[in-house]
Amino acid sequence: MPTKPDGHAATQPLLSLQDLKTHFPLRGNFLDRLIGREPGVVKAVDGISLDVARGEVVGIVGESGSGKSTLGRTLLGLAHASEGRITFDGHDITNLSAESLRRLRMRMQFVFQDPHAALNPAMDLGTAVADALDIHGLEPDPDARDRRVRAILDRVGLSPPERFMDNYPGELSGGQKQRAVMARALVLNPELLVLDEPVSMLDMSVRAKILELLINLKAELGLTYVYITHDLATAKFFCDRIAIMYLGRVVETGPPSAIYSDPKHPYTRALLKAIPDPDPARSVPRDLPRGEVPDAVNPPLGCAFHPRCPAAFAPCGWEGRDLRELLERRWAAIPETQYETERAVIGDLDTFDRPETVVHVPAGRGRDGRAVADLLASIRAEAPDDPFWEGVYDMETAGDGVRVTFRTPHDPHLRRHGRVQVACHLWEDGGG
Ligand SMILES: Nc1ncnc2c1ncn2[C@@H]1O[C@H](COP(=O)(O)OP(=O)(O)OP(=O)(O)O)[C@@H](O)[C@H]1O
Ligand code: SF4
Ligand SMILES: [Mg+2]
Repeated sequence: MPTKPDGHAATQPLLSLQDLKTHFPLRGNFLDRLIGREPGVVKAVDGISLDVARGEVVGIVGESGSGKSTLGRTLLGLAHASEGRITFDGHDITNLSAESLRRLRMRMQFVFQDPHAALNPAMDLGTAVADALDIHGLEPDPDARDRRVRAILDRVGLSPPERFMDNYPGELSGGQKQRAVMARALVLNPELLVLDEPVSMLDMSVRAKILELLINLKAELGLTYVYITHDLATAKFFCDRIAIMYLGRVVETGPPSAIYSDPKHPYTRALLKAIPDPDPARSVPRDLPRGEVPDAVNPPLGCAFHPRCPAAFAPCGWEGRDLRELLERRWAAIPETQYETERAVIGDLDTFDRPETVVHVPAGRGRDGRAVADLLASIRAEAPDDPFWEGVYDMETAGDGVRVTFRTPHDPHLRRHGRVQVACHLWEDGGG
């Protein structure tokens, strides 16, 4: 263990992730194979560094598809890490053998979102919890095993245990099932629980009770939690620290008190605005910025949030796909006759589907590069403040179209600002 200058041992994180990546290779479709195109990879987790201290609750928050579950699965060895390092209690566990992993699993447990799917419908609770012990060769003595099973059922609130030992999952409520799943995990005396949306499938009234139970169990059993959720409202009171994920990366991380009172990343701000307000009299904008979460195969260049970011500016990673989106948005909003006139000037934009910073905008049939240049100039003159244009470095007529060159994209990296770390160009060089 490293020693601080004052002579005290520095606290070693229980779990440490260094530049962790989990990429899933795609098989590719028939067309890809025909034209010899690389099918690509899904960058589900794309360079995450994070420490989790013993006893801490770290929340992983983000929209659907941001890579939360993949991160949780990777750090427990349930998905293969493509790059980077995972350290647990000082040991590198990135690519362990199946046998070492099996032993480690006792110390690190996963609680899934759907308690129904996590329980075998043909096993009563007593058998299901005892089965977890059997798998790991623990408590071979039947009486000791029985005592341990009863104690943990009682501890998770399934009491008196003799009432629940013989119950099958189908006879339990949603909350009781999630308690049973927790009993199955906790009977192994783990140190770390990865909780993947543990309450999102439960009724509102039950959610608070299960979260309260988790808080009590953590204190009594000295547990550490990685809490995966899309719900910032529960993360606020449940977590000691929050990491906001977007497209496989952490964009902001810090204690909830700092993140909720003074969010720095535009994505965090958007997520917080989208929390439904319990007081209907207060009008809170519920929509996230325009657009869907882009796919993780060819994420946007530069800052992956830039196509949706209300604060995006020159260095944020503008590219050909943004030009296509700008034109399509415009064409959806203007009158039909104007649309037809403009659409005829520009040729096929379907090739604008890759991350490219130099693109050729082709002229439509019977038109030339001059006409395309004039149209782009008039669109720009109508909305010169659109941040997209800040990203355009050069436009020049080239043959039968216009070549548009964008500024070099830059990836924002996490940098410390007060109590948080944020990855956004607005916050570089002491900005904000
Ligand atoms: N086994 C896999 N093979 C290929 N792609 C995958 C695989 N697992 C996940 N993905 C992709 O990785 C990305 C992240 O998925 P993940 O399930 O980790 O997101 P999530 O944040 O947990 O979403 P949700 O909130 O919907 O549970 C998605 O684009 C998903 O389609
Ligand atoms: S770097 Fe910051 S300002 Fe730029 S697009 Fe990303 S979040 Fe928005
Ligand atoms: Mg998930």
